[in-house]
Amino acid sequence: MVPSGTLLVTALPLAALDGPLKAFPHTSIRSNGLTWDGSGVMFLSLLSDTTPMTGKIVAINGSPRSGWNTDMLINEAIKGAESKGYMVQKFDLYKIERFTGCISCFGCKREAHRGECVVKDGLKPVLDAIREADGIIMGAPNYFGDLCAQFKTFYERLVFPYLTYNKERPCCNERKIPVLLIMTSNAPDTLYKDMLENYKNVLTNFIGPTTVFVSGETMQVKDYSKFDWTFFDGPQRVERREKVFPQELKKAFDTGSALLD
Ligand SMILES: Cc1cc2nc3c(=O)[nH]c(=O)nc-3n(C[C@H](O)[C@H](O)[C@H](O)COP(=O)(O)O)c2cc1C
Repeated sequence: MVPSGTLLVTALPLAALDGPLKAFPHTSIRSNGLTWDGSGVMFLSLLSDTTPMTGKIVAINGSPRSGWNTDMLINEAIKGAESKGYMVQKFDLYKIERFTGCISCFGCKREAHRGECVVKDGLKPVLDAIREADGIIMGAPNYFGDLCAQFKTFYERLVFPYLTYNKERPCCNERKIPVLLIMTSNAPDTLYKDMLENYKNVLTNFIGPTTVFVSGETMQVKDYSKFDWTFFDGPQRVERREKVFPQELKKAFDTGSALLD
C-alpha cells in the first residue's frame, strides 16, 4: 500500500537492489522521504525536505508484538531521527530466522576478527549494519524483570566482541556511537532502575553513550475485561494509554531526533 502523502515514483524489481538488503526482506529502510518497504517498490514522499543526510541509524525492535508499546516508541524515535534527515534501517528481532546468543567460540578475541562476531547466522546482517552505523535505537519489553530473551540474545552478540579480557584495555571498540535503549513494562517506570543502570553502563562502555528511556504501566491488551487479570486496574491502563502514552511517544520522537546531536 502506498503510504499517505507519498507519490509512487518507481517500481524496482528486488534484483535491482544491490547489497545485502535484497536478501533480508524483514528490514525496511527509510530516509529523507524515500521509503523502501521490502516489496520492491520505492516511494518518494511529497513531504520530504531538503535536509542533507548526515548519518545512519540502526533500529532494533526486540518486541514480538509489532505495533504495540515497544514498537510504537521505537517507531517514534525513528521518525524523530528521520526528521533530522538521518537514514534509518530497522530490524525486527522476532522476524529474523535462526540466531543464537554468544556461543563462546572466542573468534572475536582472535587477531583476525578482533571485535567482530564471527558467527554467520540470522544476526550477522544486523551486526554488520551496526558496524557501519552512527547510532542505534534499540528497545525491548521487560520479561520477568529483565529485557526479553530475544533482545538479550542480540545484546550478547553485540557487546561481547568488544570485551577484550585485557586489564589495560578492556574494550577494543574504537568507534563508539550513541545508543537509545527503550524498555516498556507493566511495572512503573522506576522499578527496574538498577537493572537498567547496568545495561546503561555496559552499553556506554562498549558501544557508546547511552540514553535509557522507560515507559511503564503500559496497556498490555486492549480489553482487560476479557481476562481474569486482577493484578491490574484495566480501565486505568487504558486511560493511561490515552493520556500519558502520547506524551511518551513525543518524548521518544524528541530523543530519537537528538540521538546524533
Ligand atoms: C512473558 C512476559 C513476561 C513479562 N514480565 C514482566 C515483568 O517481569 N515485569 C513487568 O513490569 N512487565 C512484564 N511483562 C509485561 C510487558 O513488559 C509489558 O506489557 C510490555 O509493555 C509489553 O511490550 P509490548 O507491548 O511491546 O509487547 C511481561 C510480559 C510477558 C509477555
